[in-house]
Amino acid sequence: MSNERPEVKPKSFQERMEINVWALVIMLAIVLSIGGIVEIVPLFVMDKTMEHNQAPEILWQRKEGQTLANWRPGDGIRPYTALELAGREIYIKEGCYTCHSQMIRPFRDEKERYGHYSLASESMYDHPFQWGSKRTGPDLARVGGKYSDEWHRRHLRAPRSVVPESIMPNYPWLKDNLLTMDIERRMRAMQTLGVPYIDADIVGAQAQIENKTEEDALVAYMQVLGTMAHLDESKVYRE
Ligand code: HEC
Repeated sequence: MSNERPEVKPKSFQERMEINVWALVIMLAIVLSIGGIVEIVPLFVMDKTMEHNQAPEILWQRKEGQTLANWRPGDGIRPYTALELAGREIYIKEGCYTCHSQMIRPFRDEKERYGHYSLASESMYDHPFQWGSKRTGPDLARVGGKYSDEWHRRHLRAPRSVVPESIMPNYPWLKDNLLTMDIERRMRAMQTLGVPYIDADIVGAQAQIENKTEEDALVAYMQVLGTMAHLDESKVYRE
């Protein structure tokens, strides 16, 4: 009994790969290439996957001579106004995205809680997009119009004053900080990234954020989220 050699089990594919570094490198290269192709190829047909190519009405059809001030809610997806764009900067600066996503997935439970699933076209003017990867708090993609401005102000200053069980931090300084950013330059930067601002949107935009607080801007941004386009529930915005 004692002389008997322990039975050697044939090595599994996994084990053979793990003890042969070159085999591992080759296998990794193959597997990662497949993963890469799956992720990259759809980008070549991005123009077709954006919903406004089938449903142009979801984008704001700006007429000759119109500025952002001519846009009315529901007219369609448009670039952010100066104040909203400033609010978006505060959203990013304060790290709101670490707890909030802005992407409603096309599942029944999500649609029932948050509304119509998010369209790719809805974040086409977002640089960088704010889809987020963590939901400590609720998704904010369609929070616009859900509460009053006053509710947002109270909630930002002291979330527990309106939602007693909330674990969201207080942001009391936002109401005291005046906006100091050069918003016209930021809008120009967006323009270079393909956001269709016209010069009339940008010239004089600085005056629109003058004497406004970070809180004013953030509330303006919250209130426009998900409200730009009227999405038809009976329509499937997918191929
Ligand atoms: C530590 C995580 C955390 C951070 C950071 C955070 N939140 Fe929240 N937020 C929550 C939680 C949890 C809730 C749900 C409870 C409540 O309504 O307060 C919430 C709720 C909200 C709501 C209400 C959503 C709804 O549909 O009822 C809004 C609006 C909101 N947050 C905005 C913000 C903004 C703007 C910031 C950045 C200034 C921010 N949050 C930062 C956790 C967070």
